Amino acid sequence: MPTALITGATAGLGRAFARALARDGYGLVLVARSEPALTKTAEELRDAHGTAAEVLAADLSTDEGCDAVRARLVSGPRVDLLVNNAGIGHERPFLTNGTASEERLLDLNVRAVLRLTDAALTAMTDRRGGAILNVASVAGVGPSWLSSTYPASKAWVIAFTESLAWSRQVREAGVRMTAVLPGYTRTEFHQRAGIPTTFPPAWLWLDADDVVRTALRDLHRGKVISVPSLRYKAAAWMLRHLPRSLTRQGAWDISAHPHR
Ligand SMILES: NC(=O)c1ccc[n+]([C@@H]2O[C@H](COP(=O)([O-])OP(=O)(O)OC[C@H]3O[C@@H](n4cnc5c(N)ncnc54)[C@H](OP(=O)(O)O)[C@@H]3O)[C@@H](O)[C@H]2O)c1
Repeated sequence: MPTALITGATAGLGRAFARALARDGYGLVLVARSEPALTKTAEELRDAHGTAAEVLAADLSTDEGCDAVRARLVSGPRVDLLVNNAGIGHERPFLTNGTASEERLLDLNVRAVLRLTDAALTAMTDRRGGAILNVASVAGVGPSWLSSTYPASKAWVIAFTESLAWSRQVREAGVRMTAVLPGYTRTEFHQRAGIPTTFPPAWLWLDADDVVRTALRDLHRGKVISVPSLRYKAAAWMLRHLPRSLTRQGAWDISAHPHR
């Protein structure tokens, strides 16, 4: 039975990945900070799908948390698929948020992805096979959310994934890598970030299970960039190809207008 390790597996997209992969016959390693939430998610997956789910409580914005998950990837039983999903955003503008909070965001959204990818790729290239799915965001493609470090962190995830996925070392080892670029998706993300969910119009919202279905299909097809839904494919195309002077006009500036 193949095994998938999913970060941020207790809510939103991570829990949807866990459900979908359990249905596909994967054994799971679930990672998040809250042990009770991990245990509850593992029990739900066992009851619904008969899946064996191991839980690993770790704060991935810390060295200790990353080291614990790295150790599981390198020295534990084989992991065939790593889903780097855990991530956060902030509603506070850069200049009032403070660097400690911004750095915590980068530690989770960037540094943990780098460290876990390194650990997984080392094991996967040695045994010549495996896959890594990195959850980025359509916000990482171009100017979308001004005065926020979040789009920059997701631009890094996209560039990092593309740079490794196309590299000879990774391709010749038979390891697939995909960056997933969701748009607004109904999860706990906005509530945690302090963004009211009344802000985007209903038609902009995606369903987590739909995002995950597209992401896993694109990973299996060998696509390096996966943008779930036609409307966000169009948004990503515009952010990538229209002049920056134009797309900047449509970006939300949280230093001027918080999402209220
Ligand atoms: N929802 C959207 O609209 C949207 C759009 C584009 C991209 N994304 C991206 O999708 C990914 C998943 O987001 P989501 O919307 O599913 O978020 P979510 O519903 O808020 O879930 C976040 C998950 O990450 C875990 N987590 C948070 N901080 C952590 C830490 N320091 N260490 C380990 N685990 C941590 C949480 O559990 P604990 O709190 O117990 O740790 C939870 O399981 C993120 O990378 C996000 O940037 C989301």
